[in-house]
Amino acid sequence: MDTTLTAVRAEFPLLDKCTYLNSNATGAYPRGMEAVLQRYAQTLQNWRDEVWEGWWADWLGYADAVARFLGAPAGSVATDANLSSLLGRLATCFDYQGERRRVVMTELEFPTVPFIWRGFGRYGADAVVVPSEGGRMDEERLCAAIDERTLLVSVSHASFATGALLDLEPVVKRARAVGALVAVDAYQSVGTVPIDVEALGVDFLLGGAHKWMCGSMESAFLYVRPALLPTLRPAATGWFAGEQPHTFEPARDWAPTARRMTSGTPAVLPAQLSQVGLDLLARVGMPTIRAHSLRCTARVMARADDAGLTVVTPRQEARRGGVVALRFPGDAEVTRRLVARGFICSYRGALRVAPHFYNTLEEVDRFMDALEAEARGEKA
Ligand SMILES: Cc1ncc(COP(=O)(O)O)c(C=O)c1O
Repeated sequence: MDTTLTAVRAEFPLLDKCTYLNSNATGAYPRGMEAVLQRYAQTLQNWRDEVWEGWWADWLGYADAVARFLGAPAGSVATDANLSSLLGRLATCFDYQGERRRVVMTELEFPTVPFIWRGFGRYGADAVVVPSEGGRMDEERLCAAIDERTLLVSVSHASFATGALLDLEPVVKRARAVGALVAVDAYQSVGTVPIDVEALGVDFLLGGAHKWMCGSMESAFLYVRPALLPTLRPAATGWFAGEQPHTFEPARDWAPTARRMTSGTPAVLPAQLSQVGLDLLARVGMPTIRAHSLRCTARVMARADDAGLTVVTPRQEARRGGVVALRFPGDAEVTRRLVARGFICSYRGALRVAPHFYNTLEEVDRFMDALEAEARGEKA
């Protein structure tokens, strides 16, 4: 294992307690978060309103750090408690009365995505769901559904269920050609797959910290392509989105930066906590993280093949994110038994194995030994 990876592994106390291969559900928490929590408690115990000056800087500083991590300029990322709130707020920026009112997504979106767009049906949005095949999204079918009636393409980068990666290039190209915008739910890729929003050319990219980014719960983000910022006038808004919240005057306009996509009193503690995980990811670097992830997921697939388990996740490197989904008779029950024994994984229609940069290949093997034995009905 790379020496940086070995050093960073020591930052995650959870790894001493179990075999943790569950980063697509919740990442392991870095020990540096404890100091942040203590500082927060002390701040509350000695409260003065002036604390807000430092908190404001921490909150916005974290958003800018996420922007940097995504290859985007400062001021292009807003944070909020969850992705659903940010996507819902983004949805309030558009007009659904004209010809261009379709929102195109795939069958593999996280449930929040179709729920929001069907909800916006009451304002005229027309949700179009493109069928998928075999646990992966089909770019050709998706592109064929994008036309001059499309306002927005709202798709996942990596499927939450199978880890299948969508090739965004043809999708962005098709959307550009017909004048549609692209919003990517990258919750299941940011932190395990390198992402450069400018190279991808996406208009919006959403994600959250508590999975692959080793950050806190209640810590999601939205990137907006800077040229679009002045055009976004969210109706579901709040005083922190205004030009000058500290004047306590009713805002006349939204902030010029992505702060315009926030709402009320911000989630400062989640931002402070998530900065710890982001610093660790930056310390290791995404190329190293991705290379290690591909090694670990290749090992999971090879072991699954040897054991006769069905690999649902696409095998091509460019087509898979950080998770391998496995199907076999009794998989849901085996997931429960593994978790009870301290082999932590999750189930969403298939057993999901999700190694991250802090896991070792030995851990992957230990996990697969236990899984094979449970699948055969014995214990390793
Ligand atoms: C692809 C994807 N999108 C969104 C979410 C969660 O969204 P929210 O932050 O609104 O809970 C998840 C979480 O499991 C996810 O896997």
